[in-house]
Amino acid sequence: MKIKYIIILLFTILFGFISCTENKTIAKRDLSSTPETKSDAKMESFLDSLTKIMTLDEKIGQLVLMSTDWEKTGPSINDNYKKLIEEGKVGNIFNAYTAKFTRELQQLAVENTRLGIPLLFGYDVIHGHRTIFPISLGESSSWDLKAIENGARIAATEASAEGIHWTFAPMVDISRDARWGRVSEGSGEDVYLGSEIAKARVKGFQGDDLFETNTILACAKHYAAYGAAIAGRDYNTVDMSDRELRTTYLPPFKATIDAGVATFMTSFNELDGIPASGNKYLLTDILRDEWGFEGFVVTDYTSINEMVPHGIAKDNKQAAEIAINAGVDMDMQGGVYMDYLKVLITEGKVTEKQVTTAARRILALKYKLGLFKDPYRYSDETREKELLMTPEHLEAARDMARKSSVLLKNSKQTLPISKDKKVALIGPLANDKYDIIGSWSAAGDRYTKPVTVLEGFKEKISNPDNLLFTQGCEINSENTTDFQNAINIAKKADVVVMVMGESEGMSGEAASRTNLDLPGNQKELLKAIKKTGKPIVLVLMNGRPLTLEWENENMDAILETWFPGTMGGYAIADLIFGDANPSGKLTMTFPRNVGQIPIYYNVKNTGRPYEANGPEQKYRSRYLDVPNSPLYPFGYGLSYTTFTYTDFTINKKEYTFKENINISVTVTNTGAFKGEEVVQLYIRDMVGSITRPLKELKRFEKVMLEPNESKKVTFTLTSDDLAFYTKDMSFKAEAGNFKLFVGTNSDELLETNFTLK
Ligand code: BGC
Repeated sequence: MKIKYIIILLFTILFGFISCTENKTIAKRDLSSTPETKSDAKMESFLDSLTKIMTLDEKIGQLVLMSTDWEKTGPSINDNYKKLIEEGKVGNIFNAYTAKFTRELQQLAVENTRLGIPLLFGYDVIHGHRTIFPISLGESSSWDLKAIENGARIAATEASAEGIHWTFAPMVDISRDARWGRVSEGSGEDVYLGSEIAKARVKGFQGDDLFETNTILACAKHYAAYGAAIAGRDYNTVDMSDRELRTTYLPPFKATIDAGVATFMTSFNELDGIPASGNKYLLTDILRDEWGFEGFVVTDYTSINEMVPHGIAKDNKQAAEIAINAGVDMDMQGGVYMDYLKVLITEGKVTEKQVTTAARRILALKYKLGLFKDPYRYSDETREKELLMTPEHLEAARDMARKSSVLLKNSKQTLPISKDKKVALIGPLANDKYDIIGSWSAAGDRYTKPVTVLEGFKEKISNPDNLLFTQGCEINSENTTDFQNAINIAKKADVVVMVMGESEGMSGEAASRTNLDLPGNQKELLKAIKKTGKPIVLVLMNGRPLTLEWENENMDAILETWFPGTMGGYAIADLIFGDANPSGKLTMTFPRNVGQIPIYYNVKNTGRPYEANGPEQKYRSRYLDVPNSPLYPFGYGLSYTTFTYTDFTINKKEYTFKENINISVTVTNTGAFKGEEVVQLYIRDMVGSITRPLKELKRFEKVMLEPNESKKVTFTLTSDDLAFYTKDMSFKAEAGNFKLFVGTNSDELLETNFTLK
């Protein structure tokens, strides 16, 4: 300590830039006198002082992020992370949690490096930390922004109690290709809904003040257009027009900036021939210059190094040069900033100023989190004991799992099932703890904590003899040894509930599929059970839209529950036995078959539109073997009750650009159950300077209605909501005729029209 202090004093005298008190603060960790985070002016002067006394090596260390050996999603570049922390070569760590472990690592940095700059701990806290919520695609199906924000808030509370400062979420990639396994991590296909959810998640993670110990930095990922990988193959090439990039893929990223997101992560893909981690257009021209983003940019896992196999850098050194010159601040796991930035500066290919700017962005966020005040403030075992998996968190996860489930079919009111019926519960996911929490389940315990559907059913069915269970088959195998048991119990029951789908690893990263049927021999088992003639409810767990034409024809009811999380079994039982009413709506279109993919609702008309009910039309934009329409459209989802829409009105027929468009519609619960409906509002711009989609979601509202209750739902649009990238790429509305639609999903809508003058 003494030597450090002397060194820093020498620097101080030498440069005359920094007050002794501040030096002591950093060097001796005199925490009580370290500036608070609230004042930007104080922070700026602290950062000025700090960056002035930092050596180039120390600054480079701040740009390095390395994984511990706990968990990894890619190659290990350097397992020597503890030594590198002590040497000040690694300023940030991911895949470390628990108060104890993060404290231990923090100590290595604080006590061994010259300036004692604290580490930043990152982790993939995606849909919960210990209490696992439904996967993000599932949560998006709730269309409930408050509940989504609350889910992120709870995740941040739990993660921060275990020493984590930063989550690699939200993932805001729009995706229209269900072959891509990572659709499970996002909010589906729609730009408007995706942007609203992106904001809610950022607010949830970051709260109102990053200095609070229960808030963490959010990270908008994967920037950009990762969801448009050709043929849905993960990490694959992306190529699109600038208009499409800005219309569809960038708005959710911009929305996170509007919500104050602290960090951005680059994507693995190339865009127009330039990998995202070397893409100056994305990282500097748009992100910094157009959007004014002030936080820092981290790469995805080793994606700087991947510019070598991409074929844009001849070696890692050149890759590092391209990355920093494009605007990457922090290198995740690649080790190339650590190895090459110094020599690149010596060679004049990079300036020290660039390194200082990047380091300062990172240090600023460490400051805002209060780490210079107390580097251990998040690693608190008392908070850890109090805040993990509390009854309140578990209840919120159960509620979210109910809200996320989408009722795809319910003929003859098969659901809900009366609690005194004899039920045969069958399927590989019916008593599964491991898969039910889905992929990217952070520190969620897959072995003991999750509640299975069988456990949930036991709580509901009054007479235990009325619940029969067998697994029937595995998720992805041809083994039929349990088929006969399944048939036998089905024959004894009044109703059969089959819980089927994907394993958690079949969606998520590096989990693209070309066949989206139920895997293995699950459909064969369904066919065998169908022969018993018993009513069948299919409960699905999966991370993406599946192809379910046969199931839709042959099952009596289908409930899509995604991977519903820790409390999934209870939530599913609540829905199946009528203690709760499904209200989820799809945020991704379900295709009839894989050949229709990519399929999404806001398509354009083409010059040869096909009219589904018209006479034979050969030379039309269509398929010969299936209709253009999907199996289930965007926004679709049933309820145990029914809703009617009446009195759809707008206040005028012609609007100027300055006038509000006031819209109202009355929604009535016309069935016997209390239920929630997502009222959806779409527009169509009939003629534009460029072609316009047939429908665009512009607003939605979720309303709860008692039987026979009606509510008037109002929406206001302005001409800003009608804006788009026009022929000359200016973003504005154009005068002309519009259609306006309101209804229960993107296909079943009431319609009116207006003119913008
Ligand atoms: C994923 C990111 C993730 C990172 C760190 C990568 O493989 O693409 O989404 O945040 O690993 O775990």
